[in-house]
Amino acid sequence: MATKLILNGRRVSVDAAPDMPLLWALRDVLGMTGTRFGCGAGQCGACTVIVDRAAMRACSVALGDLAGKQVRTIEGLADPKTRRLHRVQQAWVDCNVAQCGYCQAGQIMSAVALLETHPQPTDAQVTDAMNGNLCRCGTYPRVRAAIAQAAGGKA
Ligand code: FES
Ligand code: FES
Repeated sequence: MATKLILNGRRVSVDAAPDMPLLWALRDVLGMTGTRFGCGAGQCGACTVIVDRAAMRACSVALGDLAGKQVRTIEGLADPKTRRLHRVQQAWVDCNVAQCGYCQAGQIMSAVALLETHPQPTDAQVTDAMNGNLCRCGTYPRVRAAIAQAAGGKA
């Protein structure tokens, strides 16, 4: 059974079981591998996407529950016409955030959701928003610096 949703601004119909986790549908059905599989249990944040305006763990939300909703992934951040990076992606580059990179798509999606709801986040709001995104490489200080840059503050 197909689920219709809006993925990165385009209407799509995903032909998969409605109880399939979104992460599986993105990676295995749609071939969009920018969203990472980490724990598969809602614990690491590697699979973070934005549903409507909220950061969500794609491994823990069923495809069928997303009918009619707007889903954004890391592939949808750069401008499709100019290929200009989203300001959060640019901040990540400028602050040289990534080490192995595995967690970074999820980190960026959480940061985008944070800045869309809190354009000038407090330290506590950054901590709260980014708490569930784990990084084995320990890039947390640079993640915070990039968020500060993207918010227009000091990096
Ligand atoms: S893979 Fe989804 S939270 Fe870890
Ligand atoms: S950059 Fe390696 S896990 Fe975060």
